[in-house]
Amino acid sequence: MKTRITQLFGIRYPIIQGGMHYVGFAELASAVSNAGGLGIITGLTQKTPELLAKEIARCRSMTDAPFGVNLTFLPTFSDPPYAEYIAAIKDGGVRIVETAGRSPEKYMPQFKAAGIKVIHKCTSVRHAMKAEQIGCDAVSVDGFECGGHPGEDDIPNMILLPRAAESLSIPFVASGGIADGRGLVAALSLGADGINMGTRFLATKEAPVHENVKKAIVGATELDTRLVMRQLRNTERVLRNPGVDKLLEIEKEKGRDLKISDIYEQVAGVYPKVMVNGQMDSGAWSCGVVAGLINDVPTVQELIDRMVTDARTIVHSRLANFLP
Ligand SMILES: Cc1cc2nc3c(=O)[nH]c(=O)nc-3n(C[C@H](O)[C@H](O)[C@H](O)COP(=O)(O)O)c2cc1C
Repeated sequence: MKTRITQLFGIRYPIIQGGMHYVGFAELASAVSNAGGLGIITGLTQKTPELLAKEIARCRSMTDAPFGVNLTFLPTFSDPPYAEYIAAIKDGGVRIVETAGRSPEKYMPQFKAAGIKVIHKCTSVRHAMKAEQIGCDAVSVDGFECGGHPGEDDIPNMILLPRAAESLSIPFVASGGIADGRGLVAALSLGADGINMGTRFLATKEAPVHENVKKAIVGATELDTRLVMRQLRNTERVLRNPGVDKLLEIEKEKGRDLKISDIYEQVAGVYPKVMVNGQMDSGAWSCGVVAGLINDVPTVQELIDRMVTDARTIVHSRLANFLP
C-alpha cells in the first residue's frame, strides 16, 4: 500500500501501533514493524532514559524495520526528564517519535536537530492544526471512541476525520475504534492516510501482557468501557471492572470537588497490576469501544495480513460493485 504515511515513515502498510503504557515493549513494537506496520515503544514505561536506551537496543536486535518511541506529556505524579528521554531516542538511532498529551512545542527544536520525525496524537482539529503549525510531520487523530485519553470534546471519528482532512495539509492517521480491514478502508475513505490502533494490538499473541488482559478484551462488548476522570479534565476511556465502579462511585460522591488524591488507589500503579499480574479488578486501564469488535488473539502478522487482505476485498469487490 502507498500513502503519504507509508512514504513518510518508510513502512509497507499505513498501520501504526500507538504507544501503550506497560504494553509497548520491544516484543510488540518489533512484531508490528516486522509485519510491515510501524511499532512503537512506550517511552515512559521505561522508568529512566537509560532503561529506554536498553529497550531501544533490544527492539533493534529484533527488527531491521523502522520503529518509533512514544513520549506522553500527560499530568503525572512526577514530571519525567523529557530532554534526556529524547537524547536516548536520538542516540538509539530512532528517527520517529509519537508525542501525545500536551503540545510537543517545547521539544520541537530538539526533535528537529536530531532529524526525528514527529507524529503528534491529538483529539481535536484545533490541536491538530496547532501541531501542523509548530512543525510536526504528521498527526494521529484520536476520536471519542479511542482507548486511553479521548480529550474533552467527545467528537467521534465519523465527524472528526473529515474535519481533519478539510483542515490539515500534513498527513494524518485515524486513531480509535479500528480493529479490521473495514475500519482501515473507512479511515482512508474519510481522508486519513493510515490508521493507528491500540486496543486491537493489545489482544495479539506478541503483546507482552498477562493472558487475562487478552481474555478480558475478547470477552468485552462495545458496552463495557467507561469514561473516568472527567471532572479533572483528564478523561480516560477504560474497561469496566470493580475498581472502575468504585472510582465512578467516588467521582459521583465528590462531584466538582474531586481531587486526584481521592482516586489515587484506583488510578495510580494500576498498569503493572493488570498487565504483569493479571489482576483485572485493580482499577483504571485504557481500553477502546472497539473491544466489541475483537473476538480473537491472532499473531500481529496474521492480524495485519488479514486487515490488508480484507481491505483489498472491500475496495475491489464490495465498493467496486456499487458502481455501474
Ligand atoms: C492499554 C492502553 C494503554 C495506552 N497507553 C498510552 C500511552 O501511554 N500513551 C499514549 O499516547 N497513548 C496510550 N494509549 C492510546 C493508544 O496509543 C491509541 O491512541 C488508542 O488505543 C487508539 O484507540 P483504540 O484503542 O480504539 O485503537 C493507550 C491505549 C491502551 C489501550
